[in-house]
Amino acid sequence: MASNNLATLANKRILLGMTGGIAAYKCAELTRLLIKAGSDVRVVMTKAATEFITPLTMQALSGNRVHHELLDADAEAGMGHIELARWPDLILIAPASADFLARMAAGQAGDLLTTLLLASKAPVALAPAMNQAMWLNPATRENIETLRLRGCHILGPDSGSQACGDTGPGRMLEPVELADACARMFSPGWLSGLRIMITAGPTREAIDPVRFISNHSSGKMGYALAAEAAAAGAQVTLISGPVALAVPDRVQAVHVTTALEMLSACLACVDAHDVFIGVAAVADYRPVEAVSHKIKKAAETMELSLVRNPDIIATLAGRTPRPMMVGFAAETDNVTAYGADKLRRKGLDLLFANEATSTFGSDYVCATALWRGTEHDQILSNVMGPAGKSLVARQMLSLIQTRWLAAKQ
Ligand code: C5P
Repeated sequence: MASNNLATLANKRILLGMTGGIAAYKCAELTRLLIKAGSDVRVVMTKAATEFITPLTMQALSGNRVHHELLDADAEAGMGHIELARWPDLILIAPASADFLARMAAGQAGDLLTTLLLASKAPVALAPAMNQAMWLNPATRENIETLRLRGCHILGPDSGSQACGDTGPGRMLEPVELADACARMFSPGWLSGLRIMITAGPTREAIDPVRFISNHSSGKMGYALAAEAAAAGAQVTLISGPVALAVPDRVQAVHVTTALEMLSACLACVDAHDVFIGVAAVADYRPVEAVSHKIKKAAETMELSLVRNPDIIATLAGRTPRPMMVGFAAETDNVTAYGADKLRRKGLDLLFANEATSTFGSDYVCATALWRGTEHDQILSNVMGPAGKSLVARQMLSLIQTRWLAAKQ
C-alpha cells in the first residue's frame, strides 16, 4: 500500500532505466512524481523503450537529456557512461522486460543500460512488466532469483488484466507505488541504531609454516548476515576467518586466522555492541605447538597433539554485562535436540541450528531458530527456509530484533 510520503526523495539522484514494454507510458507520470518530490532524475532508454515513448517526452519531464546510445560521442563529452554509472543514489529499471532481466542476470553489457549496471555500485530496483506467462516461465523465475540474490530490490509486479488481454501477474506497479517504494529505500533502515558484531568463516590452526587444521566453512552465512544488517542500517563489525568473500558495503571488518586471534578481536570490541552473532566455525582444537620449520615426512605414522581452543561464544556469554548472544549450531544429526542443548549449555539467548553437510559452502540454508520461553525449560522454535542465505539472513535478523526488543522491556 503506497503511503505517499515521498520526503526522503528530496535531493536524491535517480537513474531511471527504461526497457521495452507498453508500461513505459507509466514512466512519464513516475518521472513527474520523482521530480516533484525533489529528486534529480536522469533517464536511460534501451532502443526498444524508444519504440513505446519518445526520448523527447522523457527529456521534457526529467529536465535532463535522455541517454540511449553506448557509443555516442556527444553524450560522452557531456556525462560519459562511467561518470553516469557513478552518479546515481538509486538505479530504478522500469519497466524491466523479460529480455532485459535475462541480459542483466547473464551480466551482459551490449548496450548503455546493461553497461551502466555492470559499472555501477548504486542500489538497483527492478519493476518487472511483462505478459503473465513470460513472468511465470521458469527462465524468468530463475533470472529474478539470481538478481534478487545479487541484492536487487524487486518491486512487484502486480496481478490483474494486462494490455495483451491476459489476466495474471506481470503488470508493472503504478507510478505512485514505485515512487513510494523508492522513498522507502532512502528511509533510515529498520535496524538503525543497533550495533551488531558477527564472527564468520573458519579458523586455521597452524601445524607448521605450511600446514594447518581447518574446516569447510565458506563464511557465506556470516557475510550474508553482515550485508543484510548493514543494508538495514545496523552498525556492523565482522570478525572474519580466512574466506574468499568481499567485505560487504558499510561493514567494518577485522581479519583473523586462528581461534585465539578471533577471541582477542572479539574481546577487544564486544563491549561496544548490542548483539553478538557467532557464525564462525571455530576450530575446536589446535596443535599444542606450531612447529617453526616444515615437518619432513619420514615415519609411516605421525602423531599430532592437540589442545582445546577456548569457546569464544561461551566466554563472551559468561561476562557481565554482555550483549544479546546468538549462536549457530551445524549438526549432522539430531539437529534440533543438539541445538537446544547448546543453547542452554553456552548460555545463549537465541540459536540457529542447521544441517551441516548441506549448508557448508551452499548459497541456500534451512535453519531452526531456538530460544527459551517463559515457562520452565521451555524451548520455542521456528523454521526458516530453505531459501537463499540473504533471505534467511533477513528473517534471522528480524527475529533477533524481536527478541532484542522483548528483552529490553
Ligand atoms: O560447539 P559448537 O562448535 O557446535 O558451537 C557452535 C557455536 O559456538 C557457533 O555459534 C560458534 O560460532 C560458536 N563457537 C565459538 N567458539 C568455539 C566453538 C564454537 O564461539 N571454540
